[in-house]
Amino acid sequence: MWGGRFSDKPSDIMQAINVSISFDKRMAEQDVRGSKAHANMLAVQGIIADTDNAAIQVGLDDVLGEIKDDTFPYRDGFEDIHLNIEARLTELIGETAGRLHTARSRNDQVATDFRLWVRDRLDGFDGALADLQRALLGQAGKTADMLMPGFTHLQVAQPVTFGHHMLAYVEMFARDRARFADCKSRLNESPLGAAALAGTPYPIDREMTSDALGFSRPMANSLDAVSARDFALEALSCTSICATHLSRLAEEMVLWTSTQFGFVTLSDKFTTGSSIMPQKRNPDAAELVRAKTGCITGALVSLTMVMKGLPLAYSKDMQEDKKPVFDAFDALALAIAAMTGMSADMNPNANSMAKAAGAAYSTATDLADWLVRELGLPFRQAHHATGEIVALAEDRGKALHELSLEAMQKVLPQINEGVFDVLSPKNSVASRTSFGGTAPDNVRAQIKVWQERLGG
Ligand code: ARG
Repeated sequence: MWGGRFSDKPSDIMQAINVSISFDKRMAEQDVRGSKAHANMLAVQGIIADTDNAAIQVGLDDVLGEIKDDTFPYRDGFEDIHLNIEARLTELIGETAGRLHTARSRNDQVATDFRLWVRDRLDGFDGALADLQRALLGQAGKTADMLMPGFTHLQVAQPVTFGHHMLAYVEMFARDRARFADCKSRLNESPLGAAALAGTPYPIDREMTSDALGFSRPMANSLDAVSARDFALEALSCTSICATHLSRLAEEMVLWTSTQFGFVTLSDKFTTGSSIMPQKRNPDAAELVRAKTGCITGALVSLTMVMKGLPLAYSKDMQEDKKPVFDAFDALALAIAAMTGMSADMNPNANSMAKAAGAAYSTATDLADWLVRELGLPFRQAHHATGEIVALAEDRGKALHELSLEAMQKVLPQINEGVFDVLSPKNSVASRTSFGGTAPDNVRAQIKVWQERLGG
């Protein structure tokens, strides 16, 4: 395709390092879409004849057919997906195919294809994350009152409800969806028509190709159009943040399904056995989601390093932009699907969570707050007195609500019967009615809000 001034063939090593068809073939459909829009525009602008465009359109449709039913002949000899498709078009319609590449370059072509590819996948993530949110919401709907210990430092802190915990992730994944949407709006500009780097003398209509491909507008600077890969970096950043959220939920599942926690069980569908220990049920899927975050964030770092310090405009370095994105997106799609499956599959164990919710003096803050509210103590003094009562309970091997009133009165004589109202985990969560708090009434109200937003 480009050998006019060459008399010798590239060496095998040159060929090996240069060829990208093995991975950029994934942009085949986007490449055809871009070429069809470009050829139509060339014809409307009188740059190629209508009859030639008609032949090109038919040929490209045939190519698309071959791509879709997997009969397209991908060949290393043609370097990348762009040259492969043009070569195949030439075989199908003859010399007319050579008119397609008028007023464009592979530089604006690849930038266009890649943007289209990323854009298509971002839409997929939005739908997949909505499904994940629905699975978590389904759990929340059944567990708005179900007590569990809330943790800080992975130490029991204060009782919360399992429904509240599920909704925390619904919120996180909502922000991930918003980030992807924001990324999409910024990437949705068309590089097509920037040509190699400087624009073109042909009277092209960039608005027309931009509209035809669903972009918001053509990119305003031809050098930027062929050089920019921040859309891919931004997509990878969003991917990496989302993967981090998935890994936190995955880690919680690993903890919760352990014998020590026993908070939830996963079914046979999302666990595996051990080949030596017959009793084992391992949360492999959750562990793999946790691990995939490494590969995904690695992809972000990898592309950042490829782009760092590249002079304008196009450099072949940028051919290495696709693999990290393909890998990270594949990993994220699988991770979201796995978490959606596991979230729906989780069977929460109300008894063991309730027991844990009341352990480790989890209502000590409630006691301190009661001393402030009912006895008018300054919070710091209440905190200190509560600490002494906890030490006393620890001494006697009792939970706070199991201590006698007399015992508590030894620390603070003004304490009265009313204190028992706040010492149980159930009353503790019910009292957390501040906006965003874990009170079951709040949780139910939030569940309703999300059901309306997510339609399920
Ligand atoms: N395969 C190339 C890539 O992915 C296409 C652009 C080639 N442009 C060039 N001037 N060699 O970046």
